[in-house]
Amino acid sequence: MEQTISLNPKRIIESSTMVIFGASGDLTHRRLIPALFSLKSKGRLPEGFNVVGFSRTNYSHDQFRKEMYSSIQKYSDLDLSASKWGKFSHHLYYLPGDINQSSNFEELDKFIIKLDQEMQGNGNRIYYLALAPQFYPQLVAQLGNLGMANQSRGWRRIVLEKPFGSDLISARQLNQALHDVFSERQIFRIDHYLGKETAQNILFLRFANTIFEPVWNRNYVNHIQITVAEKLDIGHRGNYYDAAGVLKDMFQNHLLQLLTLITIEPPASFNADALRNETIKLLSAIRPIKSQEVAIHTVRGQYHGYLEEEGVQRDSQTATFAALRLFIDNWRWQGVPFYLRSGKSLAEKSTQIIIQFNSPPHVMFPLPPGRKINPNRLILCIQPDEGIQLRFEAKQPDTIAEMRNVDMIFDYAKSFGATSVPDAYERLLLDILQGDGSLFTRNDAIELSWGFIDPIIKGWQTLNLPPLVIYPQGSWGPKEADKFIARDHIKWIHGC
Ligand code: BG6
Repeated sequence: MEQTISLNPKRIIESSTMVIFGASGDLTHRRLIPALFSLKSKGRLPEGFNVVGFSRTNYSHDQFRKEMYSSIQKYSDLDLSASKWGKFSHHLYYLPGDINQSSNFEELDKFIIKLDQEMQGNGNRIYYLALAPQFYPQLVAQLGNLGMANQSRGWRRIVLEKPFGSDLISARQLNQALHDVFSERQIFRIDHYLGKETAQNILFLRFANTIFEPVWNRNYVNHIQITVAEKLDIGHRGNYYDAAGVLKDMFQNHLLQLLTLITIEPPASFNADALRNETIKLLSAIRPIKSQEVAIHTVRGQYHGYLEEEGVQRDSQTATFAALRLFIDNWRWQGVPFYLRSGKSLAEKSTQIIIQFNSPPHVMFPLPPGRKINPNRLILCIQPDEGIQLRFEAKQPDTIAEMRNVDMIFDYAKSFGATSVPDAYERLLLDILQGDGSLFTRNDAIELSWGFIDPIIKGWQTLNLPPLVIYPQGSWGPKEADKFIARDHIKWIHGC
């Protein structure tokens, strides 16, 4: 077997306290605490690392610990043996508080100082905002007013969950509010898609190998499809989702992130600035879809039954499915169409990227009438069946010139073991602890991506075009999406 190259960035994880604002909420229960517990169990957190939950619910420290134990049990299959839980739970604390009350922040500040002194830490803190985004500006201002962002006694980092604003204007306002108190290097904007192993592996596939990069351009690539399909409907998130819709919920962040990983130029080094600078160049090169062009470049749909969902307006025009065609105006990608689609209540959960190469320029084989050579296709299966497939033509045995497409398959589970793909939050939380911003979104990237999405939403709203099509639950979205791509003589590909 080939030797494994272990990437050891040799970054130190210093002692620190993580305050989770919104500690009684869903994100804390489902993602943050299970991920932190898993990190602790793997021995990746230092002894001097404490978590302080903060929200309005009136838990004691012990009640909070019990609540978190049940969450790990419910939302993960991690080993909760007494010894593992014991090592983690005595680092969990809770303070009830209201973000409108400065006095509650003062108590929090004192509590963290006391904890830090007890563990002989050096005062480092992470503020994790796991609450509704409308509270971000106020919370940041409170931290600023009380000097809690001051780095004279240890570093301060702030972590925000999406959505970062709801359009370009509000994103700029939020960035401004953050920059009034924190410097950009202290800010970690999470897009959990960047924490997915398979998303990070796109960079390794492209830049740790030599065979792909020479063909990764307009000379060889015919088109690229990115599909993020979800089987689930909007669940209990009607209030949020109805105001957001699929473009704000999925495209502005996750789909554009995947697009940039596939299309950026090779960064000179694997560090935050180099990666993010390339991302900015790429986002700046995406050809805008003007409001008046939405009928040509987009499709929108809503799943049947959406209007009856809790929290949704009965006459809502919110799209739960969208498909876009876009172009990137740079040397590498000029003229290559990119098709992006995402929706809720679709046939299956599947995130995949298809790179379709050109057909051979000349066919020397005697093919039966109507038979064409299938173009090569590289399929990146981001989730749930993580892997990569390369499709090519092969001669069918015992024939003169019959051929069929076959696949070369890389499967994460087979190559690295069934439990090889950790939850995205584990990696992201570790990066925050190490102060590595590579997998987090910088303010300029946020603003560029809103700048791309805003005119599409405006076009949908003002022109009422393309028509909002109702699609059956469990389907692959509206038939219009198939017609849309068929105009370019292409079909959506279900590869994984
Ligand atoms: C979130 C969206 O950011 O991503 C959800 O708000 C969506 O609507 C989720 O369901 C999808 O994430 P994943 O990791 O399940 O693909």
